[in-house]
Formats: sequence, structure tokens, C-alpha cells
Amino acid sequence: MFTREQAIEGIESAMASGGYGAEGISFRDVMVRNRQVSLTVLGASAARQPALEASLREALAPLGAETVHCRFRDEAAPAAAGGAQQAPAAAQAAPGGSAGAGKAGGPVQGHGADLASPLLAGGSGTTFIAVASGKGGVGKSTVTVNLAVALARQGKRVGIIDADIYGFSVPDMMGIEERPVVVNERVIPIERFGVKVISMGFFVEDNSPIVWRGPMLGKMLRNFFQEIEWGELDYMLLDLPPGTGDVALDVHQIIPQSKEIIVTTPHATAAFVAARAGAMAIKTEHEIIGVVENMSYYVSKSGDKEYVFGRGGGGKLAETLHCDLLAQIPLGAPDNHVSEPDFSPSVYKADTETGRLYLELADSVIKRCEA
Ligand SMILES: Nc1ncnc2c1ncn2[C@@H]1O[C@H](COP(=O)(O)OP(=O)(O)O)[C@@H](O)[C@H]1O
Ligand SMILES: [Mg+2]
Repeated sequence: MFTREQAIEGIESAMASGGYGAEGISFRDVMVRNRQVSLTVLGASAARQPALEASLREALAPLGAETVHCRFRDEAAPAAAGGAQQAPAAAQAAPGGSAGAGKAGGPVQGHGADLASPLLAGGSGTTFIAVASGKGGVGKSTVTVNLAVALARQGKRVGIIDADIYGFSVPDMMGIEERPVVVNERVIPIERFGVKVISMGFFVEDNSPIVWRGPMLGKMLRNFFQEIEWGELDYMLLDLPPGTGDVALDVHQIIPQSKEIIVTTPHATAAFVAARAGAMAIKTEHEIIGVVENMSYYVSKSGDKEYVFGRGGGGKLAETLHCDLLAQIPLGAPDNHVSEPDFSPSVYKADTETGRLYLELADSVIKRCEA
């Protein structure tokens, strides 16, 4: 079997031998399905793109890839915080950048209460759900996106805040190519599959790495409420960065009423790590709606379930956190194709097995939140 790990290795070696990494070109969101590879490439100039794509094809074909599809993005790879002292150039392009740039480096003041967002006001009727995990790569963003789409398919008005500020991936996962427009000094979120989306990825200038520090992150999150024209929403999902860092604390400050869903894989170690995110939710008094176990099993050609990543992690975690295991989502990327008019790499269609599991998950969430 040609695996995602093999694809990543092949891409990494092609990037290294072509000197692309040294030029600041990087990649993310690698997906492999039926020997078809797709990935997002960051920071490659238009002139470099054809050669890069060709060398990826050359590197991946011998490993078993039939096609390689690159989604080229202008922005450079998000760099980890550190080094730069000044406020990043990206802040200028971000919502609030023009009005608040002078204060950008200053301390963050105040709590959610002083935020002028009708969504946060008592009685707005919006249910906030932060999606958390102990570590990256367990499918937190995938679950956020597909739960949001499933809630919209059930007739709910839904928004996503991609609060994974360094590792934003929601726009690419949903196949969003456009950027938001500003009307009357308000940013209009992008709507896709009936879900309104705001992501740091929309506001990063070409080649400006994200180097901000903790306080900037909090400010960003506040701007995502204050300066975005959300309209009325039934559900707002927040894709948190992995782990239990600053952003999780900010979410608590800004949205004390937020509920949480914890995502884990079935492996015992993953569930143990995820329990930390759960403990954080408990400490911040966020109600845990439940656990979603992702990559739970693989359905083999004969229809048998193979538990490739172990078994029982989600159930054990739910027990530890005294909540329910809401869903077990199998391994397998969506059967979507780039030629489809509403192509997205990560949204499962409603009439597929996994699409139905997400609709059931949405039902359980609605039952628990609207009881
Ligand atoms: N159930 C699944 N089956 C196969 N691949 C998956 C599944 N869930 C997520 N993935 C893939 O795993 C990778 C990590 O998922 P992602 O949602 O980005 O995780 P996180 O947000 O926790 O870092 C992505 O490439 C995603 O497409
Ligand atoms: Mg993610």
C-alpha cells in the first residue's frame, strides 16, 4: 500500500534535493487516496511551480503515486514564534490591523465581556464548541470541518473560527480559494458548504511568516469576533491549536460559555495525551460534550474492520472525562476529485458512510446542546 508517510518522505526528499526548502518553500495537508496525492505548497513563486510539481511527480511515481496535485498558496510557511521582536507584517493585513496596529504589541486587556460582538452577548442563542486535542495530527481540523458541514446539512447556521493560528488548515481542507471582502469596515466570512469560515490563513501576506507571541494570538482571536460580520449563528466551532497552550486559555477568557469536544485516535497513548486537553477543559469549567475517536478502524476490501491504530482509546478517554464517546470515524480520505465543481480535499459527502457518521455526530451534538 502506498501510504501518506511514504508520500511525505518522497516530498521531503524532492524538496531537499531541489533546494526548494532553502528557498522557503514548504508543504502541508498531504493527502493520499487511491494512489492520488494532493498537497498544499506554500511560498513557491509562479515561475517555480511547474518545475516543483514536475519534480514531485518524478519523486513520487516510483513510490506508487499515479497523480500528484499541488494547491499552490502564496503565503510562506507559518514559522514558530521566536526571533523577531517587532510586530509581524501580517498584522497589517489582519482584521483590526488598520485600527489596532498601534496597540498591536501592547498587553491584551479585558475579557470577553467588553467585546462588542453580538454573538458573545448573553441571549445570542449561539452555542460555542471548541474542538481540542492533546496533540496534532489526530484529525481535529478534519472533525471540526466535517461536524460544521454536517450541522449545516441539518439546517443549522454554522460558523468556524480556525483558531489554529500557526497551523491553520481549514481553508485548504474545505477547498476555499477566495479571500474575504470588507464591507462597511466589516470582514465578511467566506461561506462554503453552508458554513461561514474565518481563518488566519486569509490574512497572511505573501511570504510573511507568522512570528507573533502569546498576546498577539489573543488579540487575533478577539478580532475574529469583533471585526467579522458573522450574522446570526446557531453554532460556532473553534478549531483550537493542539495541546493546552495560550489559545485554549484565551478561549476560556473570551468565551467562558464554550463547550468542548475532544478528539483522539484509538491508541491508548493518544488517549492519554488527549486527557490533558480534557483536564484543561475541566479546569476552565468548559462543559465537555463528548469525545470523537478518529481513525478508529479501516474497512478492508472484504468489509472487515481492521483496528490499525489500536482499540479502545476513545472509550477509555470518555470514561476518564465522564462524558460520552460521540462517534468513531474510520480511516479513509473522502472520495472527492479535483474535477468536481465544489471540490474539497477533506469534506465527506453526505451520502457516504463517513458522511453519514458525521450527520449522526451532528445529531448527538444538537441533542446535547439543545436539550
Ligand atoms: N479519518 C481519517 N482518515 C484518513 N485520514 C485522515 C482522517 N482524519 C484526518 N486525516 C488526515 O490526517 C491528517 C491530519 O488531520 P488534521 O485534521 O489536519 O489533524 P489535526 O488538526 O489534529 O492536526 C490530514 O492529512 C487529514 O487529511
Ligand atoms: Mg489542525
